Amino acid sequence: MSIRKKLIAGNWKMNKTSADAVALVQEIVAEAGKQNDVDIVVAPPFTSLESVGKALEGSVIKLSAQNVHPEPSGAYTGEISVGMLRSLFANYVIVGHSERRIYFSETDAFINQKVLASLKGQLKPILCIGETLAEREGNQTLKVVQTQLEAGLDGVSKDLATSVVIAYEPVWAIGTGKVATTEQAQEVHAFIRSLLVKLFGEAVAQKVRILYGGSMKPSNAPELLAQKDIDGGLIGGASLESRSFVELIKAAAAAK
Ligand code: 13P
Repeated sequence: MSIRKKLIAGNWKMNKTSADAVALVQEIVAEAGKQNDVDIVVAPPFTSLESVGKALEGSVIKLSAQNVHPEPSGAYTGEISVGMLRSLFANYVIVGHSERRIYFSETDAFINQKVLASLKGQLKPILCIGETLAEREGNQTLKVVQTQLEAGLDGVSKDLATSVVIAYEPVWAIGTGKVATTEQAQEVHAFIRSLLVKLFGEAVAQKVRILYGGSMKPSNAPELLAQKDIDGGLIGGASLESRSFVELIKAAAAAK
């Protein structure tokens, strides 16, 4: 058994009204709200954080935001701070998702500021890293992952490193139905773990969870989750329906 508890996180992206989000989370709570084998996180859009947070009360399921701004307050129209998220009882925040890197031109330096601000405010960052198809085909995968990981974690202390979750999401596998093979995923996860050892030492690196993301679903999850360095999943499409999300939670519980 791994020393790391598996974590299943649902990234709902830009889906669900507040009412739809509450309906979904109520189903998840009814099915999995009391189990302790797996850590469970849901990341609804900002507009549903408060209502979903209320629906999660009394359950073991934790709340995540999908993005955050590094500044505590100020003239940043359309942005949301760490303190605002904490006031809604969010515990996690997704940072550096490839959709934000690609569509909103987020740089590693900006993502690093978000990581540091989140940790300072007791919000656990889920730092997403991963290569594009062109980078994989150009044999750049490990280099890209290393750059994104090291830049994203720049300045993170050993003490706070265990509050970080890493999500390896190959961009070519997101929403495409093309899942990385277990060998491809495990190879990169093991490489990420080796980088964490260099940054923070063996003991800390063994505690940091590394999630896989990219077309994970109940049919492919058991094999992925059985890999030594795959500590859970960051799920897009399959998290939008309670049945598939709960099946993923069960798959993680079975793989612990
Ligand atoms: P899919 O599971 O829809 O491929 O999305 C993965 C993802 O981007 C999670 O953050």
